[in-house]
Amino acid sequence: MALVEPMPSLSAAIRPSIRIRKPPSLAVRMSSTAASATPAKKQAIKESLLTPRFYTTDFEEMERLFSTEINKNLKEEEFDSLLQEFKTDYNQKHFVRNSEFKEAADKLQGPLRQIFVEFLERSCTAEFSGFLLYKELGRRLKKTNPVVAEIFSLMSRDEARHAGFLNKGLSDFNLALDLGFLTKARKYTFFKPKFIFYATYLSEKIGYWRYITIYRHLKANPEYSCYPIFKYFENWCQDENRHGDFFSALMKAQPQFLNDWKAKLWARFFCLSVYVTMYLNDCQRSAFYEGIGLDTKEFDMHVIIEASIVLISSLHCVLLCILMHFIIIPQFHIWTGTNHRDLLIILFN
Ligand SMILES: [Fe+2]
Ligand SMILES: [Fe+2]
Repeated sequence: MALVEPMPSLSAAIRPSIRIRKPPSLAVRMSSTAASATPAKKQAIKESLLTPRFYTTDFEEMERLFSTEINKNLKEEEFDSLLQEFKTDYNQKHFVRNSEFKEAADKLQGPLRQIFVEFLERSCTAEFSGFLLYKELGRRLKKTNPVVAEIFSLMSRDEARHAGFLNKGLSDFNLALDLGFLTKARKYTFFKPKFIFYATYLSEKIGYWRYITIYRHLKANPEYSCYPIFKYFENWCQDENRHGDFFSALMKAQPQFLNDWKAKLWARFFCLSVYVTMYLNDCQRSAFYEGIGLDTKEFDMHVIIEASIVLISSLHCVLLCILMHFIIIPQFHIWTGTNHRDLLIILFN
């Protein structure tokens, strides 16, 4: 058993443990192979309902929503200070590769090699999807709200960096995603601005918890760290956390998306569907989590609970509270011995 550290502000009472799997059947087989010279270009991953998507929205409605003349809830000081934080660019020098990457990739053989390639492909597509959406929002909002537009552009900078780093990872496996082709050829899913806010806010906050949980687990159990990309997750996830904080501020400036009964239902629906999609995706790929020493279900439960503590306050997810109270927390309690009562006190306060 190894503890995954909670955020410093949370009580030790809710410190959940994530069970470390016994050496997996899909153990990382270490052997060296000759590397081929030129990376093969991959154009797309297999499409399914659970494949990471590219999004587009009603940009004219977005322009109206962010017009400071129309929307008096937009607090300029709050967005100015968020902009300063994005301009600081904490991770400017973080994503620097070294020789460990290629060496580690060459040692990954057998089924786990294929699983790693799929992990890199899907993650790269998801990050690139964020880049495209934020870049377009940065471009379209320039006139109505230059501060918000610049933040979107700086977030697209972060996502491009993340996608590029993952694509470089694919080159360790002699592959590369053709992102230019993907931009043109991939279908874009249309979401109204309200749903873009819910979906992106949720995926940024959940992304933060996924990255930090994997990072902390591998730091405590370095024998499972079979590829160096995970060492970068600690700073990387802070980018996602900042993106989530920005969406939180955006949603506060649009109270109509949170306060009426329809909005509340939609917010809950999105929350549940994002959790279900994550869970189904991860269960299909449990070999990956086992390969890095995690129990897939426990990993997901941990991410859901930690993310929900943040999300409940923003999205007023009463249904989710009920679900957590009657289903998720009791299960979590049975699996890990986490103190149910203490967790509820924190959730409902
Ligand atoms: Fe990202
Ligand atoms: Fe992000």
